Amino acid sequence: MADDNTRISETEIAVHWHEEEYYSPPESFIQQANFRDADALRKFELDNFPDYFAEYGHLLQWDRPWDQVFDGSNPPFWKWFVGGKLNASVNCIDRHLAKNRNKTAFYFIPERPEEPKQVVTYQDLFVRVNEFAALLRDLGVKQGDRVTIHLPMVVELPVAMLACARLGAIHSVVFGGFSGQACADRIVDSESDVLITMDGYYRGGKWLSHKDKADIAVDKAKEAGHIVKHVLVFERHPGTYTSNAPLVAGRDILVNDVIQQYRGRRVEPVSMRAEDPLFLMYTSGSTGKPKGVQHSTGGYLSYATATSKNILDIQPEDVYWCMADIGWITGHSYIVYGPLSLGASSVIYEGVPSYPDANRPFSIAEELGVNIFHTSPTAIRSLRMAQNIAPQNYQYHFKLMVTVGEPIEPDVWRWYYHVIGRDEAVIVDTWWQTETGGFLCSTVPALDKMKPGSAGPGIPGIHPVIYDDEGHEIAAGSGRGGNICIRNPWHGALQTIWKDPNRFVSTYYGKYCKNPESKDWHDWPYMAGDGAMLASDGYFRILGRIDDVINVAGHRLGTKEIESAVLKLDDVAEAAVIAAHDDMKGTVPELYVSLQPGVVPSDELSARIVAAIVTEIGPIARPRKVWIVPDLPKTRSGKIMRRILASISNNKEIGDVTTLANPEVVDTIHQMVRP
Ligand code: WT7
Repeated sequence: MADDNTRISETEIAVHWHEEEYYSPPESFIQQANFRDADALRKFELDNFPDYFAEYGHLLQWDRPWDQVFDGSNPPFWKWFVGGKLNASVNCIDRHLAKNRNKTAFYFIPERPEEPKQVVTYQDLFVRVNEFAALLRDLGVKQGDRVTIHLPMVVELPVAMLACARLGAIHSVVFGGFSGQACADRIVDSESDVLITMDGYYRGGKWLSHKDKADIAVDKAKEAGHIVKHVLVFERHPGTYTSNAPLVAGRDILVNDVIQQYRGRRVEPVSMRAEDPLFLMYTSGSTGKPKGVQHSTGGYLSYATATSKNILDIQPEDVYWCMADIGWITGHSYIVYGPLSLGASSVIYEGVPSYPDANRPFSIAEELGVNIFHTSPTAIRSLRMAQNIAPQNYQYHFKLMVTVGEPIEPDVWRWYYHVIGRDEAVIVDTWWQTETGGFLCSTVPALDKMKPGSAGPGIPGIHPVIYDDEGHEIAAGSGRGGNICIRNPWHGALQTIWKDPNRFVSTYYGKYCKNPESKDWHDWPYMAGDGAMLASDGYFRILGRIDDVINVAGHRLGTKEIESAVLKLDDVAEAAVIAAHDDMKGTVPELYVSLQPGVVPSDELSARIVAAIVTEIGPIARPRKVWIVPDLPKTRSGKIMRRILASISNNKEIGDVTTLANPEVVDTIHQMVRP
């Protein structure tokens, strides 16, 4: 919890939105939608929990059917599809081969327009995944082992994930933009013996050497006492190794060389229990240490599949493009697992959407016939602000568009609808998290009206509720904000935090558990960590994080992680990171630091502070501004009042500061920041 947890009441006052502005899906969409039977919604009422989730389980191919949909005997460690066995790579690949082997699984679009696209059929994917799985197996990777994957947006990334899944190994994908140090932290926590990387890739018109980060990661892991045995290096251009970092003999393996020996090799998929973990995904929380969110095989995969079908409306002939990075949960669920499980064609784009110019998304959509388009408010805002965009010059037709990752302003929503969606694409604003595996709130696109700025009701099977700080339910239409929770368990939810079950229980179930002795799931609502409001129409509007997490362009950063990177510098005494409003990215980190006695502020020091953050975490955590101040505002008990700093940065009312230990410093800081 935030140490100055007053953000909800602040937002309560600040909310104005058009309660009655609705948009309806066009009849043409409704006619063709996967989920268009309004009566079917009734099945998903809470009284029918957990049986209604069986339908989602049936979307998968099981080696052995489950005996029990839900086992709630050990709250909140729920078990799903107990007794069932399956393999995720079989569900995403093998089961499509009989009828659809020549269908495109992935289109890979390199960033440089002159480089040809790659078309990867389900048969191609089958071959590549099997060969790579055979290589991993020869290196000793087996069921239950963890494998860290640090790759950019290339087809090798899902190939590596699915090869792990075939062997029953647990993949841990680290976002390619994260630093070597951040990669090391995740390797050490997950105890991975194998790291998969690439020589380099294209981004923003530049070649980025990437393998250097693997060397740093392995060295830093070793300093922390963990030895990485094998580093598998893919070449971005097979046959040509291009990186500043030479290969390390005895440790590094050039995949594109050795894979020749694996031509035609097949690996029998390991039949996994539904409850066996499929992957870890590290995400930020309230402490300086990222948490390894653990997702299951059967529960996660069926949830990603069902939500892709019902909410994204993915159908066999659709070409679906999600612009997220596979290194985040959105890419796991909605570029790889959900679309492949449905046998769809999914687009992987290597680079930034604005390269070589802001019309790139439309040109890709035109070339591939993309008809489902999935992106974030930040990307939409940047398209909106870009000069010279001309979607009208491109032939594309979106039946559905998605927004995810951060709240979308109603103005931005309307622009997305009219200009990109041409008044015909249905929009789903999907609210969810790394921990939840898939969507929690969204409209069902053929059945519910859209309301700009509101995610919508809980999706079928999900029953959200808003509690105030005392655990009282806040009624619909009251205009008050509170903590959004989910009343019922669902099978896409995280199983635990890797090696930290206590943190799992306290973070998500600590505050609102009605009785820790209870064996009844009704007493264990899941707390998401977001503030939200419920309108009288049953639609949830998400207000933002209530904990020490900043959402930058839909990416989650822990303020404590940034602060601890800064505190590693000897010159720094104290540091506080706050979320500053940004027209493009929603919010961005701003940093306030005080220095050790005798240390003099300088541009050089500010630059070193920023460099420390980029080295520890990566460029996405770069603060917009570093304010070196004489002291940070504190309570008498010594807590740093980040809320006051945030008010100064965001030019908001500061409120009463007389109870602080050092009220005079607020004025000094205010003078510096807003002279
Ligand atoms: C946090 C989760 C979910 C995939 C991408 C981010 C915010 C997410 C929305 C939305 C308003 C949203 C929440 C949430 N968020 N979707 N549609 N409207 N806010 O996953 O990194 O785990 O971040 O993103 O604050 O808690 P994540």
